[in-house]
Amino acid sequence: MRFTTLAGLASLAVSAAAELTPITIRGNAFFAGNDRFYIRGVDYQPSGASDPKDPLADPAICGRDIPALKDLGANAIRVYIVDSAGDHDKCMKMLDDAGIYLILDVNTPHQSISRDNPALSYNEVYLQHVFATMDVFSKYPNVMAYFAGNEVVNNETNTAAATYVKATVRDMKAYQKARKLRAVPVGYSAADVAQNRQLIAEYMNSGPDDERVDFHAFNDYSWCGSASSFQISGYDQKVKNYTGYGIPTFLSEFGCNINPPRTFDEIESIYHPNMTGVFSGGLVYEFTQEPNNYGLVEVSTDLKTIKKRVDYTNLKAMYEKVPNPSGNGGATTTTGKPSTCPSKVPGVWEADCTLPQTPQKAQVYLSNGAGKALGIEGPTNQWSGPAQPSSGQSGTSPTSTSGSSSTPNAAVMALPSTNFLAIITFASISFAGFLGGATAFL
Ligand SMILES: *[C@@H]1O[C@H](CO)[C@@H](O)[C@H](O)[C@H]1NC(C)=O
Ligand SMILES: *[C@@H]1O[C@H](CO)[C@@H](O)[C@H](O)[C@H]1NC(C)=O
Ligand SMILES: *[C@@H]1O[C@H](CO)[C@@H](O)[C@H](O)[C@H]1NC(C)=O
Repeated sequence: MRFTTLAGLASLAVSAAAELTPITIRGNAFFAGNDRFYIRGVDYQPSGASDPKDPLADPAICGRDIPALKDLGANAIRVYIVDSAGDHDKCMKMLDDAGIYLILDVNTPHQSISRDNPALSYNEVYLQHVFATMDVFSKYPNVMAYFAGNEVVNNETNTAAATYVKATVRDMKAYQKARKLRAVPVGYSAADVAQNRQLIAEYMNSGPDDERVDFHAFNDYSWCGSASSFQISGYDQKVKNYTGYGIPTFLSEFGCNINPPRTFDEIESIYHPNMTGVFSGGLVYEFTQEPNNYGLVEVSTDLKTIKKRVDYTNLKAMYEKVPNPSGNGGATTTTGKPSTCPSKVPGVWEADCTLPQTPQKAQVYLSNGAGKALGIEGPTNQWSGPAQPSSGQSGTSPTSTSGSSSTPNAAVMALPSTNFLAIITFASISFAGFLGGATAFL
C-alpha cells in the first residue's frame, strides 16, 4: 500500500516536470493532445530591427522577460530572428517551464527570400540556413510552428515572390520528413494587404499536401480602440472568408495603437465563438517598447529590468476576463480540402502554381543533412548580380558570395526590402495608412 502511494507520488512529480505536449493540427485547429489550443501570445523581439539579437540565446534577456510573459497569461511567443548558431537550451527550458510555446520565423536579416529578387535569393545558401535552423529547434517540444516568411509580399508589385516562399514551405516539409525531424507545422505570415490577402491565403493553401502550408496567419491592425467592434474592424468579413478554409489561421500580429493606451477590446471577439470556429487566437504586437510605440513593457537602459506599461496591465486584465470557449470552439476537425490556386493576373497576382525545383545543390541536404547551423553572421543568400545562369559560367557562385566576400552587413543594409525590415516597420506603415486614409493596408 505504502509502496503504491510512493509510486503515485513519484509519477505526479514526473508529470509536474514534464515537457509541454507538442502541438498538432486537426482540421482547421491546433491541439495539445485532445484539447483545442488557442494562441494567446505576444510577438517578442527585444531591440527590434535596429539591433537584431537572438533573445532566446541569452538567458539574461529571456530570463528577465519570461516571468512577465507568464504573469501576463501568454501561452506562446513569436520570435522573428534567432541566431541558429547560439545555445537555446536554457531559454527554451524556461519557456517550457512557464507553459509557453515558440512560433519561430526561420529568417534573419542575412537569410531570407528577397521580395525584389526572389529567384536569386532562393538558393542553397538560404536552404542550408533554413534547414539547419530546423535541426536546432525541432528538438524542443514547445516549438509550435515555423513561419517560412513574413510579409514577403507586401504590395501588388511583388506577388511573384510568393512562389519562392511556397517553395521554401515545400522544402521545409520535405526536410523534416527526410531527416525524421518532428513535423512542426509550417506556415506563412501575410501582410494585411486588401488587394491580395485573399489571394495569398488561397495560394499558400493550394496544391498537394507536401506543397501547401499547414496553417496560414496574417498581421492585422484593423481593430483600433474601444470604438471598434467585430463588424467595424471587418473581423466578421474575415471569419466569413476563412470559413471552410480547412487549415488553422490566426492573427500573427494585432494591436492597433492609434489611441494609446491600448485596451485590447478585440480579445473579446478573438476568443469568442464568433471567431473560434475559424481562428485560433493571435499574437499581440509586441512585448517590448521600441521606437514604433507598441510595447507592453519598457526595458531599462542597462537591459537588466523591465517596467510594465499600462498596455501590459490592460492586456492581462483582458486575458483574465475572457476565457476560451468550451469544447472545441466550433472547429472543423475533419481534414480540409486545398484551396484552388489563383490564376495569374498581370499586376495583380503573379505567383506560379507550379513551383520551381529545389535548387540542385540543396537537394543533397535532404539525404545528408544540412550540417552546422551557421547563424545570423553566417553567409547571406542575398546574392547580387544576374540570376544563376544554367550554363554555370558567370553569375555569382555560391562559394564566392557565401564565403568571405565583402561584409554580410553591408549586403543586408543595401537591401532595404528584405522581408525582415518589413516586419518591424509594417506596423508604422499601416499606421500611416490609416491616418492618410490610404486603403492599401485596410
Ligand atoms: C507598392 O509599390 C509601388 C511601386 O513600387 C509603390 O509606388 C507603392 O508605394 C507601394 N505601396 C506600398 C504600400 O508599399
Ligand atoms: C473576402 O474575399 C473576397 C473575395 O474572395 C475579397 O475580395 C475580400 O477582400 C475579402 N475580404 C476580406 C476582409 O478579407
Ligand atoms: C458576435 O457576433 C454578433 C453578431 O454578428 C455581434 O452582435 C456581437 O457583438 C459579436 N460579439 C463579439 C464578442 O464579437
